[in-house]
Amino acid sequence: MYKTLLTSLDHGIFTVTINRPDKLNALNKDVMQELNELMSEIETNPEIKAVIITGAGKKAFIAGADISELLGLSSPEGVNLARTGQNLFFKIENCSKPVVAAVNGFALGGGCELAMACHFRIASDNAKFGQPEVNLGLIPAYGGTQRLVQLIGKGRAMELLMTGNSIDASIALEYGLVNHVVPMDDLLPKAKMILDIIISKAPLAISRCIAAANAAFESRNGYNIELEAFGECFDTEDMKEGTNAFLEKRKAKFKGK
Ligand code: COA
Repeated sequence: MYKTLLTSLDHGIFTVTINRPDKLNALNKDVMQELNELMSEIETNPEIKAVIITGAGKKAFIAGADISELLGLSSPEGVNLARTGQNLFFKIENCSKPVVAAVNGFALGGGCELAMACHFRIASDNAKFGQPEVNLGLIPAYGGTQRLVQLIGKGRAMELLMTGNSIDASIALEYGLVNHVVPMDDLLPKAKMILDIIISKAPLAISRCIAAANAAFESRNGYNIELEAFGECFDTEDMKEGTNAFLEKRKAKFKGK
């Protein structure tokens, strides 16, 4: 049914696998559009009680937005892209059914942001998390500047955002970015085990837990500032240099212009 997603339903638990393993499951327009359609179906399909989002293969959950689609965008186009991403991730965050990220490798850029939009995260022991957008002359713009601060605190978030460094699963556990770290083969079983407990409870109470916990962070102002700041990056020479350097497999030379 979907070009970029695999789905399966087992006893009410719906597993969604982002399936572009040759591009480390990078989020291109097709993935974003299909995920958007799927989230609407998840909300309305009574057979689906809970959701797991994971990536195909054993190397990556999602290695970020598809960098080849960023090159050449104007500033307003950058803002539009970010708005689409933010709205999709709000849809995941506000899903009335529990959504868990099963992070099976690299969760970088938009991948880390997608994992953070899920209600909680479980990681395999090879997982790596980071927001490397500064290497491209960019910033996270699918809510990453906001949710990273919410989940791990401002100081740790500032360091990760500004260095672009990645952290491994054990540090992610220490930071509270993930709830559990397990061997790869145990990742989906662990997610299913927790979701089995959740879906045995009253569904309306579960939805209200989600809505109430989300309301703890209800200000949208930071997300708007993130959108504008992302758009501004597209007017810089450094953003063109950063994205070209990645695609040409070389180190970027930034000029501050
Ligand atoms: N967008 C588009 N393509 C991507 C991608 C992304 N975010 N991340 C990886 N890919 C592609 C690579 O270009 C490569 O494609 P190719 O085989 O056609 O050349 C393929 O996926 C495999 O990636 P590669 O870089 O060769 O794997 P690696 O093991 O050497 O490195 C990473 C893995 C994750 C460290 C590296 O791919 C990376 O840094 N990715 C970008 C992360 C990022 O900046 N994300 C934020 C984007 S806003």
